Amino acid sequence: MTDNTVKTRWYKDAVIYQIYPRSFCDSNGDGVGDIPGIISKLDYLKDLGVTCVWLSPCYKSPNADNGYDISDYRDIMDEFGTLEDWQRMIDGMHQRGIRLVMDLVVNHTSDEHEWFKQSRSSKDNPYRDYYIWRKGRGKDGKKPPNNWTSRFTGSAWEYDETTGEFYLHLFHKKQPDLNWDNPKVRQEVADICNYWFDKGVDGFRCDVITYISKDQRFPNGKFNPAVCGDEHFVIGPNYHRYIHELNQNSWSRYDTMIVGEAQGITVKNAFDAVDESKEELDCVFTFEHQTQVDSFLTTVPKKFNLVKWKEIFSNWQALPQTCWNSLYIENHDYPRSLPRYGKLEYRKQVAKMLAITINFLRGTPYIYQGQEIGMTNFEDLKPEQYKDVVSIQIYDIAKKFAPLKPIVRWALNKKARDHARAPMQWSAGPNAGFTTGTPWMDVNPNYTEINVEEELADKDSIWYFYQAINHFRHGNEIIGKGSYRCYLPKDKRVWCYERNYNGKRYVVVANYFDKPARFRMPKELAHRSSKVLFHNYEGEIPLADCKLRPYEAVAFEIE
Ligand code: GLC
Ligand code: CA
Repeated sequence: MTDNTVKTRWYKDAVIYQIYPRSFCDSNGDGVGDIPGIISKLDYLKDLGVTCVWLSPCYKSPNADNGYDISDYRDIMDEFGTLEDWQRMIDGMHQRGIRLVMDLVVNHTSDEHEWFKQSRSSKDNPYRDYYIWRKGRGKDGKKPPNNWTSRFTGSAWEYDETTGEFYLHLFHKKQPDLNWDNPKVRQEVADICNYWFDKGVDGFRCDVITYISKDQRFPNGKFNPAVCGDEHFVIGPNYHRYIHELNQNSWSRYDTMIVGEAQGITVKNAFDAVDESKEELDCVFTFEHQTQVDSFLTTVPKKFNLVKWKEIFSNWQALPQTCWNSLYIENHDYPRSLPRYGKLEYRKQVAKMLAITINFLRGTPYIYQGQEIGMTNFEDLKPEQYKDVVSIQIYDIAKKFAPLKPIVRWALNKKARDHARAPMQWSAGPNAGFTTGTPWMDVNPNYTEINVEEELADKDSIWYFYQAINHFRHGNEIIGKGSYRCYLPKDKRVWCYERNYNGKRYVVVANYFDKPARFRMPKELAHRSSKVLFHNYEGEIPLADCKLRPYEAVAFEIE
């Protein structure tokens, strides 16, 4: 163990690419993406200007939730390869100047993890307290201990015959929650982190980390038709203490980045969660901007509100340098950003507009696989195509109430996580070049037009746009350190902001809608000599008083 490592905060200048291994690249024709497949694409990532990969779970897992249910934290899933393959992968990354951030899923394990098998076997097993067991209510003790719901539908408690008690699972019943109030569990987690750090891993993305500490009285949650109980475990009573402890016992001893998936962390409590002085997480994925449109946990898609969107980003940008931001609009839990934020007839413009507006902010940008080529949702996702356990469980409920079926189908067609999990579209060849076998889930039929080969053949493509922005950001102090100011925050169509560092200024102007927008440049920004850095349309842009075309976005430098 390398004690007293100084954190270099390398992540402040990183571009991170998220790989969902199941769907990235299949090397052996079994239809499932794997580690040798990733190895074959490392040059691709380097060319794109990526400097770090966040790899969704690749550990042993029975795949109730595609690897987010881990049965052995120290080994690789058979379908993905071996530890030797993994070692070749990380070596290959490091040789190319790419770091590796692994997924740390420790709010829960798989029910097939040895700890849980032991835990459920008897009340006095030494592993009993690794999980959360409670007696049921009612005369026969068969009613769940409280009204908390699983984020994946239904009660959060599962009755277990062997010992006649319930265990808690905030996700699927095959994902029992660990009991973080047990110091042995916390030590196990530190040991797991250190095991991977000693193998060269550069950081972790901590899955649902804000759920780890539960109110031990297990009170009923406020009534909520969707999810119940949040107020008793989202940033629960000992959350900060446990995270600080883990930071001290593991994370701070290596030169790492620790990013938490952080439901419940908003700009209001962000300082306590991520400020460097707290020695907890380095940064978080907030849900604030994503849930402006929808999330997989709420059922009704919302209308996009640009004023709110700007306010959320602007507030996060106003945090001190010591509170670092994660800049993301896609991951494996949301449908694609196209068409969430724009109409598909303008696919290229929308993708580039999003790339400009997100990448000129302070923070570490994330690209989710396929985002760099503008991959989209399925046009019509059919129930027989659902692979995500959430889609399947929601649709199973609908099947019991026939009139609900078309509504649920409609909602899932907009919101299912399956959209983002479809295989990566490498080429116009069979199965989009993802596999030579039968892919584990359907390829989006639009792969004949949207694929890496096409993008690389077109100098004006989304891919090259991302590549240029990634290179532009590298070492750029205005982006990394500059102040942020939002102009015209109440403008409903246009986002205009400025970054300023030692008098060097960048200005971003973007029309977020499919209709032309009149825009008058704020006085402070007009009448200066300027140089266009990025623009998603051909041709000149009149800077003083202009009509922006649908989704038109420009970033320029002014003096
Ligand atoms: C996180 C993951 C998601 C998973 C859930 C349970 O939200 O991103 O994919 O289903 O945690 O582990
Ligand atoms: Ca494979």
